[in-house]
Amino acid sequence: MEMKIFSRIVLTVFMISVNLSVARADMLEWKKMGFEVSNPVSVLDSMADVRKTFASPLVCSACHHHHYEEWSNSYHAMSVRNAGFQALYLKYLEFLRKEETKQALGRESGPEELRQCLFCHAPMLQFASDKLVHEISDSIANGKWEEIRDIQISCVMCHTITPEGKWTGAFGRTGTMYGPIKDPVPATVSGHQSKFSQRHEESKFCAPCHSLNTFNVYCSLVFEQWQGVKDAKQCQECHMEVTGEMAVAIGGKIRPDHSHLFQGGRFKDTMSSAIGLSLNVDKTPQKEIQVQVTLKNNVPHNVPDG
Ligand code: HEC
Ligand code: HEC
Ligand code: HEC
Ligand code: HEC
Ligand code: HEC
Repeated sequence: MEMKIFSRIVLTVFMISVNLSVARADMLEWKKMGFEVSNPVSVLDSMADVRKTFASPLVCSACHHHHYEEWSNSYHAMSVRNAGFQALYLKYLEFLRKEETKQALGRESGPEELRQCLFCHAPMLQFASDKLVHEISDSIANGKWEEIRDIQISCVMCHTITPEGKWTGAFGRTGTMYGPIKDPVPATVSGHQSKFSQRHEESKFCAPCHSLNTFNVYCSLVFEQWQGVKDAKQCQECHMEVTGEMAVAIGGKIRPDHSHLFQGGRFKDTMSSAIGLSLNVDKTPQKEIQVQVTLKNNVPHNVPDG
């Protein structure tokens, strides 16, 4: 529990000091994002449009109940709606309002700046109108979680990415779902096309958000660190472990089931899975710095992240 608080504090302190460089950098940085859409998506102007365009994870849960349960408890499911994000977002807004920020930008800050912060945490908002971006920004600032409950890193955000790293643009219930299954049962059973994607088993799938390459925001640097480690395992091998063999869908076959909990530093189980780690975790901040050093040998990225 203490570790949880600790890793949050580290991130928070770090992020605040980095926000300055974020805003000084090219504000259109997010446009370099690795994801492109192969088919045009119409502009989303309201939360109703969002709900119409992107299949809700609840829809997927009808057949993929186990994945849904796990994902619901992951930080990907809470990527915008949590007090930690809100706190830092408020700081960011405060920063955008500052006189020196306006001078650096040569204008008032606007939706571009808000989008940059939301891209990884709410990737569907890249298709949102300026009006909707402002509304959602207000909802986060005021903690109106109910209004924005459907803009997390949801099932379709990850499973409509093609092996080439583009989004298909068909985010609805009947879109093509890409994943690790080479011989999926046909769409007549699942109601959606299923296609194999090698990318989903590789670290580069996680890279656009867990890296500094795409944006100048220092939230997650694990991909760069991972790249620097020779013969490192893929992210999925540690963070999406096979938990057993089971039917991965109603109507599906018995197959390896990959965890969708995405456990990281804020889950105790993952922490104690690293050798010699459990001894030090719940101690003082100084001791926890020692934990970082110990872990570097076991995990191919820094601990804590960022
Ligand atoms: C390049 C993608 C990306 C961008 C842009 C981004 N983040 Fe993050 N953020 C992440 C990732 C990935 C994590 C998870 C890191 C971890 O847990 O180690 C994270 C974690 C966080 C956390 C800690 C977890 C939590 O929810 O309490 C906060 C707070 C946060 N980000 C706020 C922001 C704010 C504010 C901005 C805009 C200035 C921003 N992020 C922009 C990817 C991003
Ligand atoms: C009517 C049931 C049903 C619903 C609803 C459903 N699926 Fe599936 N899904 C299946 C079946 C069946 C398979 C194939 C499993 C197999 O071959 O063993 C499958 C396969 C998949 C795969 C694996 C693709 C591959 O080739 O690796 C993914 C990813 C997936 N579904 C995601 C989703 C998402 C996201 C949603 C919600 C938008 C969803 N599914 C809704 C039944 C469903
Ligand atoms: C952050 C991205 C991400 C999110 C969000 C996500 N998945 Fe996955 N999913 C993956 C990856 C990556 C794999 C393949 C892991 C591997 O092969 O190592 C996978 C595998 C699967 C599979 C194939 C069976 C298996 O366990 O390997 C199904 C079915 C699936 N996901 C359904 C879902 C559903 C339903 C949701 C939402 C409730 C969801 N996923 C959310 C990334 C994601
Ligand atoms: C669309 C952007 C995106 C993609 C793709 C993505 N993530 Fe994340 N991930 C995030 C964000 C944002 C957070 C932080 C959410 C929060 O807490 O606010 C996060 C959180 C996490 C955490 C939890 C960290 C903690 O502190 O407990 C883990 C672990 C993680 N991601 C692993 C992965 C892995 C592995 C993949 C690839 C299979 C992946 N992610 C793909 C954006 C992404
Ligand atoms: C050999 C196993 C292993 C591999 C490979 C691995 N990780 Fe980790 N990761 C861990 C462990 C263990 C932790 C928990 C301890 C910690 O770092 O907080 C962790 C923590 C994290 C966190 C949370 C960091 C924090 O400060 O809370 C994120 C985010 C993450 N990993 C993402 C990734 C991504 C993305 C990749 C691939 C580029 C990756 N990991 C590769 C084992 C691994």
